[in-house]
Amino acid sequence: MDYSIETSPLDKQQTDCIIVGIYENQQLSPSATSIDEQIQQIITQLIERGDIKGKNSETLLINYIPDSTIDRILLVGLGEKDKITPKLYRKALASVISTIKATKIKSACCTLIDIDVLNSDTQWKTRQIVEVFNDVLYQYQETKSSEDSKTELNNIQIHVVAETNTQAKQGLQQGLAIANGIELTKLLSDLPGNICTPSYLAKRASTLADNADKISVEILEESDMEALGMGSFLSVSRGSRQPAKLIVLNYQGGTKDSKPIVIVGKGLTFDAGGISLKPGAGMDEMKYDMCGGASVLGTLQAAAEMDLKINIVGIVPSSENMPDGDANKPGDVLTSMSGLTIEVLNTDAEGRLILCDALTYAKKFNPDVVIDLATLTGACLVALGRVPSGLLGNDDDLCNDLIKAGETACDSIWRLPLWEEYHEQLKSNFADLANIGGRDAGTITAACFLSRFTEDYRWAHLDIAGTAWRTGANKGATGRPVPLLSQYLIDRANAGS
Ligand code: BES
Ligand code: MN
Ligand code: ZN
Repeated sequence: MDYSIETSPLDKQQTDCIIVGIYENQQLSPSATSIDEQIQQIITQLIERGDIKGKNSETLLINYIPDSTIDRILLVGLGEKDKITPKLYRKALASVISTIKATKIKSACCTLIDIDVLNSDTQWKTRQIVEVFNDVLYQYQETKSSEDSKTELNNIQIHVVAETNTQAKQGLQQGLAIANGIELTKLLSDLPGNICTPSYLAKRASTLADNADKISVEILEESDMEALGMGSFLSVSRGSRQPAKLIVLNYQGGTKDSKPIVIVGKGLTFDAGGISLKPGAGMDEMKYDMCGGASVLGTLQAAAEMDLKINIVGIVPSSENMPDGDANKPGDVLTSMSGLTIEVLNTDAEGRLILCDALTYAKKFNPDVVIDLATLTGACLVALGRVPSGLLGNDDDLCNDLIKAGETACDSIWRLPLWEEYHEQLKSNFADLANIGGRDAGTITAACFLSRFTEDYRWAHLDIAGTAWRTGANKGATGRPVPLLSQYLIDRANAGS
């Protein structure tokens, strides 16, 4: 898709379709008003006829306009003026692009920058147009032999008034970088477990590094991890025939001595549960257990494309969790890289077993902060559903910064407590800690487990089990939390650290 910023008057646009907004109570946006004057008030007449009310996400495509150089107009309802939240704006954008996707329209000019959105500027709106359009137009094709019907749309102009040109250009650049990062994350996540193995993820990370000047990559093999004493991570991999990989990406956008932001992502390319085998229904969805890792790749790609002036390290412990003869057994006791011993009471709580060694390894980078992303617990779905990701951490400032970034990016998170009392649930008779804490508060006890390995730095954990993919007929990866992380990194770069 070709996106560009346009500042020339609307009647001069070469496009198949002009997208304009209308509010509830039949009010027109500035662009809709100016176009309506050029086409003998056709829009007003259609509104008077009751063809469109202006409710949020309602659309009306005017396919033919007599005596005009304008080919088509797509009207989109936005809801009540002065009450358009960022989320409502994104919802209207999604409806616009879904409508266009189903037509023969090849190019479109979007004027929706002229809509007032609460707490939002031109840069933000431009970014959202690119992000939402790209998200809706994403189509998984990798393992299909016949092409699904493809959109003919290949060109989008974003129309702005000249004064806001600079803001729009910045928004466009960020929007493209983030949208591409989301797309990479979705693609890797949607790939099946027999293709997207730990080795495949490592290869994709290497390609990413090859294509970005400021990113370097190191892949640690099982023998390297053995030497480092990663007994916990390796125990999970022993149950599978695919060798584990520890992927380390290094983005050097800042000065040499500025401390990096470290992002760690769970890269479990298939989670069968191990000896504590999962039930069969829906088990295919456990190919998504590497969404955290895929988000690390997507976020680093976005940061590099935005050329952010900060240092970032991405770490992806990648493995399968399978029930091979050499797999973890309930009751086994492991020794982690940190020295803490772990009693495996359920082999399906494997995410924390691979993450704890990666989190210990993160210390080596002298991190400013460490953020981990993991499809860690089904309990997170019970607690929060599929709306926000779960957030837990040992530093209020970091957590608050992430919450703020999530709000701006419309990729929300909700904090849960990490209190002392919950640690009781992880007591073991045979090791320093158990890998599960019973039925109650599963998301919190999982984070408590991780917190035992993150005491030396500021740390936040995102449980993305409910947000990284959609289930049901529309099954597929969402690319979350790439928008939130990209926003956090932009904020950090703007703050000059
Ligand atoms: N990958 C799963 C978590 C998960 C479950 C994510 C459902 C998305 C949807 C994780 O490895 C797991 O199996 N967790 C167990 C932990 C339990 C054994 C304490 C779970 O949530 O059931
Ligand atoms: Mn599991
Ligand atoms: Zn898992």
